[in-house]
Amino acid sequence: MATFEEIARNLRRSETISIGLIVPDNSNPFFAEIARGVEDVCFQEGYRVFLCNSDENPDKEYHYCQSLINQQTAGVILISARQAIDTARRLIERSIPVVQVDRELPDVATDVILADSYGGAYQATRYLLDLGHRRIACLTGPTLRAVIMQRLAGYRDALTERSITPDPVLIHSGSNARFETGFTAAPILLGLPDPPTAVLSFNDLMAIGFMHYAAEAGLAVPEQLSVVGFDDVRLARFVLPALTTVAQPKYEMGRQATELLLRRIRGEDSPPVRRVLEVSLVVRNSTAPPGGARPQ
Ligand code: RIB
Repeated sequence: MATFEEIARNLRRSETISIGLIVPDNSNPFFAEIARGVEDVCFQEGYRVFLCNSDENPDKEYHYCQSLINQQTAGVILISARQAIDTARRLIERSIPVVQVDRELPDVATDVILADSYGGAYQATRYLLDLGHRRIACLTGPTLRAVIMQRLAGYRDALTERSITPDPVLIHSGSNARFETGFTAAPILLGLPDPPTAVLSFNDLMAIGFMHYAAEAGLAVPEQLSVVGFDDVRLARFVLPALTTVAQPKYEMGRQATELLLRRIRGEDSPPVRRVLEVSLVVRNSTAPPGGARPQ
């Protein structure tokens, strides 16, 4: 590990190398925790990191791509906005190494670091079924993302294995994957003639927004409604009740992606690496059997 003096000397070097990190929403702690893994490796290796927020907007993402090319960025870690492939293709045609994280683009041959989205949603849905829930709603966020389609497949497969036909009225997408989408989805889902007794959200922010509505409406979580999130951002354990969620290895995703990128920058030309890291269900206090009798 480099000493702080060596690191300081590297950063003073005029030719200090920089990398780009393009994320879809820098206000979402999921991406912030990935960025932490990226920054720790870069700091140790004397690289600068340019953080670019695409706001899930492919045009803004491409604008940043051009900026990174113009300032001769040595490589880019890309979490793509809604399956947009122009940025990745532009960087590759300019021979700038790219590592994709979290979201894999079709027909783009780069190193990729993913987490097991299918397995996480399948595991979470099975957990709710084992608690006795049968009407399980799903907050997806915008569906034009490979990770979301994989989670939907895991959710649906877990239901059909128990001979439950997924009910489309229980699947809510919304315009973004933020707190507000969970908050506005709650009255719609809870107002159904046959409302859900549990909700699986494809990220923690929407789950927390849903729980906020439930609290304001006087609906007790988990006694009257179970809620499961996805990501396990640090906030998840401090909301009340603490959120049951699927933990993604956020820091490790950032760390491994950066190590792969630095190897490419240094000239490694081996075939692309594709890793799918494990996720795990973290059971906290936002889930219980229907009716709320918590397991002893
Ligand atoms: O919270 C943001 C979500 O979108 C995460 O689940 C992550 O997988 C990203 O794609």
